[in-house]
Amino acid sequence: MEQEAWVLFDLDGTLTRSEEGIMNSFRHALRKMEYPEPDEATLRKCIGPPLVWSFQNVAGMTEEQALQAQEYYRERYNTVGLLENRVYPGVRMMLRTLRKAGAHLAVVTGKPSTPTEKILAHFGIRRFFEKVVCATDKSADKELLIRTALPENHGEAWMVGDRRFDMEGGVRAGIHTLGVTYGYGDEEELRESGAGKLARSPREITEILCPEVQPDPGAFLSMEGLDGSGKGTQVDRLRDTLDRFGYEVVLTREPGGSPISEKIRDILLDRENTAMEDVTEALLYAASRAQHVRETIRPAVKAGKVILCDRFLDSSVAYQGGGRQLGVDRILAMNTPAVDGTQPDMTVYLDINHREALRRRCAASVPDRMEMEADSFHARVEEAYHQLIAREPDRFIVVNAAKDREEIAAEIAEQVIRRLTEAEQ
Ligand code: TYD
Repeated sequence: MEQEAWVLFDLDGTLTRSEEGIMNSFRHALRKMEYPEPDEATLRKCIGPPLVWSFQNVAGMTEEQALQAQEYYRERYNTVGLLENRVYPGVRMMLRTLRKAGAHLAVVTGKPSTPTEKILAHFGIRRFFEKVVCATDKSADKELLIRTALPENHGEAWMVGDRRFDMEGGVRAGIHTLGVTYGYGDEEELRESGAGKLARSPREITEILCPEVQPDPGAFLSMEGLDGSGKGTQVDRLRDTLDRFGYEVVLTREPGGSPISEKIRDILLDRENTAMEDVTEALLYAASRAQHVRETIRPAVKAGKVILCDRFLDSSVAYQGGGRQLGVDRILAMNTPAVDGTQPDMTVYLDINHREALRRRCAASVPDRMEMEADSFHARVEEAYHQLIAREPDRFIVVNAAKDREEIAAEIAEQVIRRLTEAEQ
């Protein structure tokens, strides 16, 4: 791709996956029109093409009925439907990399302007685009929209989309076409309608358009907390949020996170290993980490992915440094060769009192070797975490883990996404 090339993106099925919101809104419109609800496969065909076309061709309505159905559809879609949406994993990095390669980006969509702008703003991806060209009530014709988006005398230009409307529009407007097979159209539809190239993932779009440009590094996030802080649930929730926002997430954990590190984990958590010396334990955590950093964390971050790690070095400082009383500095020194400069960009700490954590732990499951430790052990772990937070307040996002799960998940999502999108600027 030349510098200053234009890359135009369709929205639904190319940048975002809006099937949940779209299908729910179609169902709503059909119910209101007193039409029977079609099966899932038929409903899927309605994603992408102009709405009136779908109501006529898929549901068999007259033009007048289809226009009425479109009103009903919008009534639901513009309020709730449009946020039942996801950005495809890898889209954010693809957009960043294309911008880095010097491309001008635009959105060209058959959706009206209000929901389009709301979706782009909600996911924080509006700023990647110089232009956003949407359908009007008069026209949703892709060729016209493409011509509107492109400046006069533009150089190289590409239309990227997942349906035949995108490919045909691009061909008629005389520009290159790239079909994406992860959306709603299949390979055959895309080829038949003139796709010049095909990509199976957002990552492949970058590889086709600017193979010479290295993506920027991704990010390294960790989550910490006492056993019983609800960390497992919140790690899963954060993973889902990151995924919804278009990050390529790699979920991992310590001890563990690579085949060798997982074997070390088994030794560390084995309830039979009562003879394990504290220093052996600390070195095993460090050894597991050394392998994990090199085999899993660094390669993923380098490739532009987001690592979400359930515990990292802070756990050793808190459990072995504080809990086992080996001392913070000794643990940091042991781990220097293990991490070799690799530290999380941000760390979510689920803040809970050690007594409350113990109460929750006992209610939940049979404890492992570490969890069986005495109350005073966990009190020291908690204390050490608080010291770490005081040392590096900017790295930590401290969340009150006594609150309701949903509230905690929302607070973590808000803070993590804000920091990540700021870092993308
Ligand atoms: P965790 O994965 O939270 O346990 P589970 O999967 O059972 O919820 O962590 C396992 C235990 O290992 C936990 O008690 C904390 C401890 N640990 C350390 O003592 N030091 C470390 O460096 C790490 C990473 C974990």
